[in-house]
Amino acid sequence: MIDKRMEDAINKQINEELYSAYLYLSMSAWFESIGLKGFANWMMVQFKEEMDHAMKFYNYLNSQGATVKLMAIQEPPHEWESPLHAFEETLKHEQHITKCINELVDLAEELKDRATYNMLQWFINEQVEEEENDREIIDMLKMVEGSKHGIFMIDKELGQRQYTPEA
Ligand code: FEO
Repeated sequence: MIDKRMEDAINKQINEELYSAYLYLSMSAWFESIGLKGFANWMMVQFKEEMDHAMKFYNYLNSQGATVKLMAIQEPPHEWESPLHAFEETLKHEQHITKCINELVDLAEELKDRATYNMLQWFINEQVEEEENDREIIDMLKMVEGSKHGIFMIDKELGQRQYTPEA
């Protein structure tokens, strides 16, 4: 049993995670359209991870006997100025998600909701990893300064990323 305020906040977070999935799927489509299949692969894996995040919250609400309420998902942008721009926007978005998770933790503390607090620890760690990954790719992209050869090499590397389903 969880407080109605927490139920509402988690439902909002499900929407945030689904939007994240939508944003990265849109980026994947854009990278495909400009011939960067490795970048497209990286974003497709990210899309799947975001779906897992949404489902983690979804399953948590169900396990607490609360009600999942799905809301409209905002339309994401469809193109970016460059790979660097797409990843800068990705980092910005993840920083926003980190803030959302921190606010959920604050609410769990206020409500003395130990179960939700505990569940959220996974997301705290995940956000550190997500922001770090984005920063690493931004650094690589800045290093090659848009050179075709450099982008080609990064594309090869990002093509190696594989999706591992959540346990
Ligand atoms: Fe689900 Fe990328 O935060």
